[in-house]
Amino acid sequence: MIGVFDSGIGGLSVLKALRAELPHEDFVYFADTAHAPYGERGDAYVVDRTRAVVERLRAAHAVKALVIACNTATAAAVHVVRAEHADLPVVGVEPALKPAVAASRTGRIGVLATRGTLGSAKFRQLHASLAGQATFSLQPCDGLADAIEAQDADRIARQCAQYAQAVGPFGTQEGQTDVLVLGCTHYPFATRELASVCGPQVKLIDTGQPVARQTRRLLGEAGLLRTAGAAMLSLDATGSLPALRAAVDRWL
Ligand code: SIN
Repeated sequence: MIGVFDSGIGGLSVLKALRAELPHEDFVYFADTAHAPYGERGDAYVVDRTRAVVERLRAAHAVKALVIACNTATAAAVHVVRAEHADLPVVGVEPALKPAVAASRTGRIGVLATRGTLGSAKFRQLHASLAGQATFSLQPCDGLADAIEAQDADRIARQCAQYAQAVGPFGTQEGQTDVLVLGCTHYPFATRELASVCGPQVKLIDTGQPVARQTRRLLGEAGLLRTAGAAMLSLDATGSLPALRAAVDRWL
């Protein structure tokens, strides 16, 4: 069984890609919904929550690998989890800046993420390593993960318009932004709203597929890949399990 963890429902966007890439694997999805979202809470809080969740996940389920399907938790705590659970393959997510550079023709890329992700040392290193290859407009999206978690359609539409417009103008002409990186696993659930601001020529890039491929690679290397048999999905949460089930029915 593979453990997938997020602060809330956002990691379901990664789980969807994982199940497509690894159709014979069992998954347990753990949502820390009683403490979501993490994005504006600060590193110490996110590290504490991540450690607590991974402990609880391992105590309750026999996981053979772990995917941290949350950019904020990866940025703050993936090194801690790897150190404390060295027996387990651990995959994290990061905003897809490298794929965005490859996909952009204008060299202008918008990045939407939480304040925690954009302020992290991990993200700053990634950004600095690519700074000569494109111009990135970084936009912290305070409240957007929370609005998606609450399924508040008005707030999602308003915030998508505000944050996406801030990294425009959009288009494929010189000087325009032609790629938008969704640097939080919640944001793929606002793809329709973001696309309506950016227009059809702009590519929206998230991390689901690259993470799923990386997970397959790590399982293969560790001899842990399951290639036959029916797969099971279990759900666990610190908040409401029925609400998580409803989100799974809606998004998966
Ligand atoms: C959050 O919990 O605020 C967002 C999760 C993420 O960064 O992917």
